[in-house]
Amino acid sequence: MSEQPRDWTIRDVVAWMTDDLRKRSVEGARLDAELIVAQALGIDRVKVIVEGQRLLDPQELEAIRALFKRRRGLEPVAYLRGFREFYGRPFRVDRRVLIPRPDTETLIDVALERLRGHDLGARVVDLCTGSGCVAITLKLERPTLTVDATDLSEGAIAVARDNAQRLGAVWNVRFAAGDLFGPLGPPRRIHDLVVANPPYIATGEIAQLQPDIRDHEPRLALDGGEDGLVVVRRIVAEAPQWLRPGGALALELAAGQAEEVERLFLAAGFDDVRRAVDYGGHERVVSGRVP
Ligand SMILES: C[S@@+](CC[C@H](N)C(=O)[O-])C[C@H]1O[C@@H](n2cnc3c(N)ncnc32)[C@H](O)[C@@H]1O
Repeated sequence: MSEQPRDWTIRDVVAWMTDDLRKRSVEGARLDAELIVAQALGIDRVKVIVEGQRLLDPQELEAIRALFKRRRGLEPVAYLRGFREFYGRPFRVDRRVLIPRPDTETLIDVALERLRGHDLGARVVDLCTGSGCVAITLKLERPTLTVDATDLSEGAIAVARDNAQRLGAVWNVRFAAGDLFGPLGPPRRIHDLVVANPPYIATGEIAQLQPDIRDHEPRLALDGGEDGLVVVRRIVAEAPQWLRPGGALALELAAGQAEEVERLFLAAGFDDVRRAVDYGGHERVVSGRVP
């Protein structure tokens, strides 16, 4: 929005912001502009379109300008709005947590498939829980589960607990800060499923990520060590001490890592090892059972 005083309608502002973001090569510029206006005005996106002719008052323009400035700095829209939909539910997000991705819905589908037939009262561990989107979704999809979720980041655990309360996933759901299985005490082979979307990007590749991700999402959520598989290797090695015979491990990975991770599963003694593809057709989840 230029500094010259003039009357701005909602439509003018959306058009101006769309144009500005396109010049900065932002994909989905119009959608972003509409969502920013919706957030600033406290209305939904449909109203932004329907009320396009409405004139904005100075306070409304200021609220839009403040959010737009952040988006111009390439802060993801999910952080501006403070939430992101995952598996049909709204999760609170801020800079303490990775923004849940549609790809991770594949991990949920695989986890539910692995639990099929014996989910009643089953015990699940969600490692690297971040916003809690995996742990909470599994609990809401299968309410009799007992779910333990951990994350190295205290901030992430605070966000996950808040999400669990807001979404009504509190009974038999526990969150704890710490390294992988660390907060769960001594290993016990009582769990039916261990699930994780760990950091899996090679340290050297982080610099090439889109700036929205690289400069705004937590580094701890992205950096998977030298070859990207440092945390994955630890989970595959440790999970058998936590799974009952027949229990399953399911992990999300980057495209291109499935073959190597399948080898890790087999070397650790898992059987029935399978790969699953995300919405884009990439192999993104490897799962297997402890014999
Ligand atoms: C890729 S994010 C996944 C977040 C969430 N589960 C999701 O799917 O959106 C990875 C998470 O792992 C956490 N993390 C990284 N290293 C960890 C470790 N050694 N132990 C536990 N959590 C770890 C990060 O803090 C981050 O929240």
